[in-house]
Amino acid sequence: MAVSQAAALVEKLVGHDDNSITQQDISNPAQDRAKYGDPDHPMKALVWQGKNKVEVVETPRPKVVEPGDVILNITGSTVCGSDLHLLHGVIVEMEKGDILGHEFCGVVDEVGPDVKTLKKGDRVVASFQIACGDCYYCKQSLSSQCEKTNSNTIANAMLGARTAGIFGYSHFTGGFAGGQAEAVRVPLGDVNLLKLPDDVPDEKGLYLSDVVCTSWNCCVDTGINKGDVVAIWGAGPIGQMCVDFAFLLGAQRVIAIDNNWRLEWIKQKCPKAETLDYSALPRGESVTSKLKEMTGGRGPDVALECVAGEYAKGWAHYFEMMLGMETDTSEIVNEMITSVRNYGRCGITGVYVGFTNHFNIGSLMERGIRLIGNGQAPVHKYWHELLTMIQEGKIDPLKMVSHRVRVEDLDKVYYKFDKKEDGMQKVFVQTKYSAPPCEGSPPLTTY
Ligand SMILES: NC(=O)c1ccc[n+]([C@@H]2O[C@H](COP(=O)([O-])OP(=O)(O)OC[C@H]3O[C@@H](n4cnc5c(N)ncnc54)[C@H](O)[C@@H]3O)[C@@H](O)[C@H]2O)c1
Ligand SMILES: [Zn+2]
Ligand SMILES: [Zn+2]
Repeated sequence: MAVSQAAALVEKLVGHDDNSITQQDISNPAQDRAKYGDPDHPMKALVWQGKNKVEVVETPRPKVVEPGDVILNITGSTVCGSDLHLLHGVIVEMEKGDILGHEFCGVVDEVGPDVKTLKKGDRVVASFQIACGDCYYCKQSLSSQCEKTNSNTIANAMLGARTAGIFGYSHFTGGFAGGQAEAVRVPLGDVNLLKLPDDVPDEKGLYLSDVVCTSWNCCVDTGINKGDVVAIWGAGPIGQMCVDFAFLLGAQRVIAIDNNWRLEWIKQKCPKAETLDYSALPRGESVTSKLKEMTGGRGPDVALECVAGEYAKGWAHYFEMMLGMETDTSEIVNEMITSVRNYGRCGITGVYVGFTNHFNIGSLMERGIRLIGNGQAPVHKYWHELLTMIQEGKIDPLKMVSHRVRVEDLDKVYYKFDKKEDGMQKVFVQTKYSAPPCEGSPPLTTY
């Protein structure tokens, strides 16, 4: 049994806390076909089937379980870099059959009796986190830390406190079924769905679920001042949106760091940005020394981590992680710390799970580096202003979208996204409920 599943078993033995106002662990309506689903109406959904294995299956459509529920017909979803951590088995407490997907939009099909602001037919986007709208954190719009939607005890013990519940993201974050499916149940629908106006098509609005809000949070939470030089580790969709946002916030220069074709993508879409391919550095040169060279010897003002702690660069961390001596590598964070100027700021948005070795605390202390965990991004704090920015054309989420695919092909899409094959990065996943592609959408690719 994989570590991830073993942890889920321990959680069952220990038992959940009693803080959640919405039911935990309905990660697939098939768990109780009559209670949680409509067995007469099957739907397609992408489920986790163990480490490095996902599959598209037929499962009952979800139905209203709690009075605040909304049932959405999904019209658009996508795969996030965070889903790769589930695929790789590094996020604990996964169970076979869990429906994945935390970025999705759709049309309201059914509402529970307590839902006040939404009705059948409304076109909406969901927040990746499930918030109550009313607790200490929700009152400050820090919805990703909602105290009333996740009652996982291992998370509480391991992290010192919990995050909010998250769609399709393991039982560690509540065990909610996700939206890589034809339909989904959205608990507390009034709070967790935002209506999309007619001038914002699904292909743009969808990404308010996560990547757009997350990248914005990464930039504003770390702090970018006018004239700053900003270095971004990871040129995936999150890093790419951060490039645009950093310029929007007044950065003078933005340098994206990665080791593959995504750097070319950035140059093409944003010619102002500079790139650093760490795999092409000559012997003796490091990311830090190169960045210093590029910035007059002092280093960037700001470093943004848009990668994740699971991707070791060298053998030492590779083996330490494999042997369970640490859960995350410190290599990227150390690079960020040594690269930025003294009193520079480093923000971590890429996912880190637990503990790391060989952390350069000396450099951090001596040089006054500000290390900021950006947290799971609080979507509710930002989605209104970012929707307006999309309407005004200030940002275009379609810039990072490489493919339009079908929900029935999602398992193959996961593997291609993981291997960065076919130039695949952010996708738009359509279902039988989707509208025809909007202007600027990539053509449909079938597998
Ligand atoms: N905090 C949040 O709320 C939140 C939300 C969404 C995603 N995320 C996380 O943000 C990260 C980025 O997401 P994404 O969708 O862009 O993922 P992605 O996997 O598509 O992109 C990650 C990129 O990092 C690059 N990379 C790997 N090792 C590197 C290294 N040593 N130096 C520089 N680049 C390196 C990869 O080549 C890849 O292009 C992921 O960890 C994801 O889980 C966080
Ligand atoms: Zn995500
Ligand atoms: Zn709350």
